Amino acid sequence: MSLLKRIEKGGGATGGGGNEPPQGASSGSAFDAPSGAEFSQEESSRLSAMRNRTQQVAGRPQSRENAYVDLKSRVQTRLLSELDQSTDLSRKSEVRAHIEELFNAILAEESMVLARQERQRLFETIVAEIMGFGPLEPLLADESITEIMVNGPKNIFIERKGTITRANVTFEDDDHVLRILDRIVAPLGRRIDESSPMVDARLPDGSRVNAVIRPVSLVGPTITIRKFFKKPLTVEDLIKFGSVTKEIIEFLRACIIARLNIVVSGGTGSGKTTLLNVLSGFIPNNERIVTIENAAELQLRQEHVVTLESRPANIEGRGAITIQDLVVNSLRMRPDRIIVGECRAGEALDMLQAMNTGHDGSMTTAHSNSPRDTLARLEVMCLMAGMDLPVRAIREQVASALDLVVHQERLRDGSRKVVKITEVQGMEGDMITMSDIFEFEQIGVEAGRIIGRIRPTGIRPKFTDRIEAAGIYLPPSVFGLGKSY
Ligand SMILES: Nc1ncnc2c1ncn2[C@@H]1O[C@H](COP(=O)(O)OP(=O)(O)OP(=O)(O)O)[C@@H](O)[C@H]1O
Ligand SMILES: [Mg+2]
Repeated sequence: MSLLKRIEKGGGATGGGGNEPPQGASSGSAFDAPSGAEFSQEESSRLSAMRNRTQQVAGRPQSRENAYVDLKSRVQTRLLSELDQSTDLSRKSEVRAHIEELFNAILAEESMVLARQERQRLFETIVAEIMGFGPLEPLLADESITEIMVNGPKNIFIERKGTITRANVTFEDDDHVLRILDRIVAPLGRRIDESSPMVDARLPDGSRVNAVIRPVSLVGPTITIRKFFKKPLTVEDLIKFGSVTKEIIEFLRACIIARLNIVVSGGTGSGKTTLLNVLSGFIPNNERIVTIENAAELQLRQEHVVTLESRPANIEGRGAITIQDLVVNSLRMRPDRIIVGECRAGEALDMLQAMNTGHDGSMTTAHSNSPRDTLARLEVMCLMAGMDLPVRAIREQVASALDLVVHQERLRDGSRKVVKITEVQGMEGDMITMSDIFEFEQIGVEAGRIIGRIRPTGIRPKFTDRIEAAGIYLPPSVFGLGKSY
């Protein structure tokens, strides 16, 4: 396949290491990758449209930024047409050197004099367009950014240290966002167009991507990227950030070794997956762990781990593998522990049943506003399994399967904290009884930062015997009993 063709369809070097979407995946949408060996009409017309636009705007008086954009697209168009079509895009440094050579030649030929800094910026922007994810590249490279949110071409926001700010990059227009989006999803064999305007995908580095376009999104193409870090947050990081305390970690480590069934709950982006990852690190090395996720985010360090990922249906609507399918299948894989990245629907029922039938020590996360709400959400999810079970039966399953809810929140100052650790005790009448063991207490606010500490409530959990049976002794002071905490 020609270089130009790959560039146009998004198979750039950063894009997917030459992964091709499956043949026949095309449905004629603006996003589908053509399958012939030569440029399709669509590709040629896209390129010539790009060239025409460049020519049209060349004569107009321009603002500085517009002039820059036009200079960029002029040089880019020439580069695209002059690059050797047989170049292998996966050889990044070679391609980059080649682009640089052509870039210098074009500037010299057009007698363009640019300041060194501007020349460098133009070069990097063009390299990002040709080989990477365009304006998203600098944001992806910046390790301090944890989330990137594109709300149409001109409104790009980023999250740093839990605080959202506007990024100083923009796309040219909707088409520009769509081109980059195509580059993200095409190598995965997925598509996004008017008939299926939402997609989940992943960047080659593992970052989680969600995109929604028109007609569903009214603000233009939106992209949400949860950055993936090769070095995930550690226990020490969470303690340093004040998300947990050493005592809490010791308590949770004991609960995991004692094989309690745990749900980490919290709002969206509150740090559930991160905490689940950290907690999974306490599972002893000699146990067989099966992880089940929609997009593999967990990074377990143990050796004996099987990672399963669900799969959406293909273009004909077939071949979907749900989280529920994977939970059921995992039971035949002799797991010691099952970790489900997130329960969102009917899989909750299978997960609870697994917990109730000898797979103690399993863990999952769920979206919710409080530990009590977590149980209510789980009940609703179980109903979504469509088994027509009475609510009372489901509630009993929840009460007997779960031992602990660890609830995390993103507070107003952007910090993420464990705010409640609650024991699920059993049933009393129609109600599930719960008791808070630790609770975050806010003391005040200092320079915009929330000051407080998670404290024991003075209640000793009923499962303490199980912790002791696992050979771990937690002194009463951990629970705020005996001497002062
Ligand atoms: N304790 C923490 N302190 C600071 N940052 C954190 C903490 N926990 C997680 N983060 C960061 O917050 C972001 C969201 O974390 P995470 O993916 O764990 O959240 P989540 O609750 O699983 O989100 P979602 O609801 O979207 O699945 C990540 O960028 C992560 O690095
Ligand atoms: Mg998550």
